[in-house]
Amino acid sequence: MKIQINIFFCLLFLNSFSQKYRDLAITPPMGWNTWNTFETSIDEKLIKETADIMVSSGMKDAGYTYIVLDDGWMTMERDKNGDLVPDPKKFPSGMKALIDYVHSKGLKFGLYNCAGIKTCAGYPGTRGYEYQDARFYAGLEIDFLKYDWCNTEGITAKEAYTTMSDALKKAGRPIVFSLCEWGDNQPWNWAEPVGNLWRISGDIYPCYDCEFKHDTWSSWGFFKIAEMHKNIRQFSGPDHWNDFDMMEVGNGMTFEEDKSHFALWCMLASPLIAGNDFRNMSKETLSILTNKELLSINQDTLGIQGFKYREEEELSIWFKPLQNGNWAVSFFNKSNKEIKIDFDWKKHHVIDDINNLETSFNTIKYDIRDVWQHKDLKSTKESFKAVLASHDVITLILKRK
Ligand code: GAL
Repeated sequence: MKIQINIFFCLLFLNSFSQKYRDLAITPPMGWNTWNTFETSIDEKLIKETADIMVSSGMKDAGYTYIVLDDGWMTMERDKNGDLVPDPKKFPSGMKALIDYVHSKGLKFGLYNCAGIKTCAGYPGTRGYEYQDARFYAGLEIDFLKYDWCNTEGITAKEAYTTMSDALKKAGRPIVFSLCEWGDNQPWNWAEPVGNLWRISGDIYPCYDCEFKHDTWSSWGFFKIAEMHKNIRQFSGPDHWNDFDMMEVGNGMTFEEDKSHFALWCMLASPLIAGNDFRNMSKETLSILTNKELLSINQDTLGIQGFKYREEEELSIWFKPLQNGNWAVSFFNKSNKEIKIDFDWKKHHVIDDINNLETSFNTIKYDIRDVWQHKDLKSTKESFKAVLASHDVITLILKRK
């Protein structure tokens, strides 16, 4: 009897132990990251101001929660105990004080490191210090860790990321674990039990579909990233997301391109991590990032990654199943010219074979909501007609009657 009771409590403990690390990212994580705009030029003033604006601008109310410091927050050497050292010049009040400040605003806090010997920018990496660094992060009370893949010669990704994942759990604090090995080792095949999101590509570049060549690598326009891998949508879902990279909305593209970028990330159920400078964010940028109807597509609790239904000339049409039998649809104009859309719903039969969902507009009628114009349109009984400017997007939610 005594043994049975002990086993019961043991199982209860193990269950609540693992439960603690589950469901940390039940919908795609939303937040802000320093890298796209600031690279390693970061400091506590920038972070505090960004946290303040996250709250005052309505970003927090829209769902943006995480403030993540990317590469460049440390000094070049560990201390004599082997601990990482937040740069005292950049963070004179100390990292813990900054994290407390961000938490006091009702936000969450993230840091960056790398599975290799050094980070991509040359700061101390975590290789060989996994458990020590995890304890360090838990002591600081961070909520999110982005973990990169530079300087990793001789180690395998699955093992390295699993070690860090185990170390984080051992340290005892639930921390969203963001894998950043650029999709090189197909993390979608093995990372579901390891982390909550994984990058599927090299770095994003603020352009529509260009390739921007560096000496040994390239960064990519958002449409290139969206179409880089054809068959990985079945691997993404609640708590384990394909991550299409931090956003470039507000970083120099046209308004139409920013809208398309954001719509695509919403259709793909990608994590939504803003990468612009909040301190001089335009009204247009804010209106894109906080469009609640678009966000409802991204945050839909089914957590299904949308897909390209078809491309006609350079009109690219994407669908995403939503809860309650609804669908989102986006029309992207990839060309340099205006396109006239005349979409006769009745001629279309949309199938999501991975999730066993389909809809035939011949038999089922939907109400249509334009989520950029915030307007109800006619139903799917009539053809949808519109004129779409170059690189612009129309996004509709089809509501089942
Ligand atoms: C890259 C990563 C970027 C950024 C950068 C920092 O590997 O993809 O998102 O974190 O390193 O050095």
